[in-house]
Amino acid sequence: VVTSPARDLAVVGAGNMGVSVLGAFLSRGRPCVAIDLDAAKVRELSLGRSVVPEVGAAEILARALGEGRLEATTDLARVAGARAVFVAVQTPYKGADCDYTALRSVLRDLARVAPPGQTIVVGSTVFPGGIERELLPELAARKDLELVYEPVFLRAGFGIDDYLRPGKLIFGLADPAKPPAALGAIFAPVIEREATFASFASAEWIKVVHNAFMSVKVCFANEVATLCRSFDADVEAVLRATFEEGPRGRLMTLSHMLPGPPYSGPCLPKDAIVLGGLLAKHGEPWMRGASVLEALRTSNEAYTEHLVLRWIELGRAAKKPLGVIGVAFRADFNEVRGSLALPFIRRAKRDGLPVLAYDPFFEGISPEAHALAARGDREVEALRETLSHSLEDVWSRSGVVLLNRRLDARERARVSGLATPLLVDLYGNGWEERA
Ligand SMILES: NC(=O)c1ccc[n+]([C@@H]2O[C@H](COP(=O)([O-])OP(=O)(O)OC[C@H]3O[C@@H](n4cnc5c(N)ncnc54)[C@H](O)[C@@H]3O)[C@@H](O)[C@H]2O)c1
Repeated sequence: VVTSPARDLAVVGAGNMGVSVLGAFLSRGRPCVAIDLDAAKVRELSLGRSVVPEVGAAEILARALGEGRLEATTDLARVAGARAVFVAVQTPYKGADCDYTALRSVLRDLARVAPPGQTIVVGSTVFPGGIERELLPELAARKDLELVYEPVFLRAGFGIDDYLRPGKLIFGLADPAKPPAALGAIFAPVIEREATFASFASAEWIKVVHNAFMSVKVCFANEVATLCRSFDADVEAVLRATFEEGPRGRLMTLSHMLPGPPYSGPCLPKDAIVLGGLLAKHGEPWMRGASVLEALRTSNEAYTEHLVLRWIELGRAAKKPLGVIGVAFRADFNEVRGSLALPFIRRAKRDGLPVLAYDPFFEGISPEAHALAARGDREVEALRETLSHSLEDVWSRSGVVLLNRRLDARERARVSGLATPLLVDLYGNGWEERA
């Protein structure tokens, strides 16, 4: 006789997160079992009382208890009566790392008591590398169990609603192409969001990156506010006008948030330098040496310097000229001021290394047109000689090529028959031989 488990979900760890997840499932009429080591918490829950002040929890728990859908226990073996397990025990930080003691101990015990094939969703925060290093070894003897990592984003107090209607729903899996059936059968009907499946490592990073970005915004806004106030600007008006933008707005476009070259061009570098000056003059002492605004410049310059040195190193080793493809700061535009190509070419010239550079905008350009494009910038004017090479020439004669633009289909065809040099590819053009 096959009997199906009586509970949809066993929630292990009935703290803030555990109660939020429990409340979400119970609010959808699902039968659940809450498991916690803390007998006092279990006693409260078994009376239908919430142990944390999550909005809606008190009513949801009381109703579920009345309808016989809520069980609370200290006995982990009760997971046997559930279709899936959600683990929400604490993973506090210890030094600069996480303390996985509680989480590991739950998994170790689950390896003993979980029924065959059970899906275990870990909601506790796990930092990059933690699943492989800390969690999987505990389940090594139970290859039948399906481990899932769900990076969960809950606001304290609004956890039930946030769990039901998340901004994003990610499940980290050993094999993202093979989600366990329980995710579709048990979680999908409850959570109002289509799931994205990711590798364990990606899911771990999504959690960290999400929270880091929230922190960046907070620090950024506080520093901006401090500076604005010393100029009598209306901080709120400044930040609202900056961030509230129409659908054609450029600030929150994903293209700026995907990996690519350092920022460059006639505006952003200049603005970051001037902002650093404002900061030095008008910033408060607490901002010195620890400022996000200052890091806009230092991080970008350090990354640029790293790329330049790599290109120089590869060029020296190859004992051939160093190539640059894409000299203008933006493809198909003749503005060279602030271009990322400049620190590369500058450095090579300083070190006495020959450079071959190509940019379609300057191919076959007359001296007059070049002078016009230089806009009076001496350094750009002096590029005339360096710039006179053809794409094929740069590709075949250089030991290493900086790809400072995305090549179009015609350009790819032009170099396809030639041997590929080493590439420092800032735009992910997709060649296999990259530096
Ligand atoms: N609080 C949130 O809103 C939130 C949001 C996102 C992520 N998280 C993550 O969720 C995890 C839990 O956070 P929390 O704030 O809910 O923690 P918490 O301390 O409030 O709750 C943890 C619970 O787990 C119980 N527990 C510990 N070991 C156990 C065991 N072996 N068996 C059964 N129960 C056990 C504890 O008694 C406690 O009740 C953490 O990793 C945290 O980083 C929390």
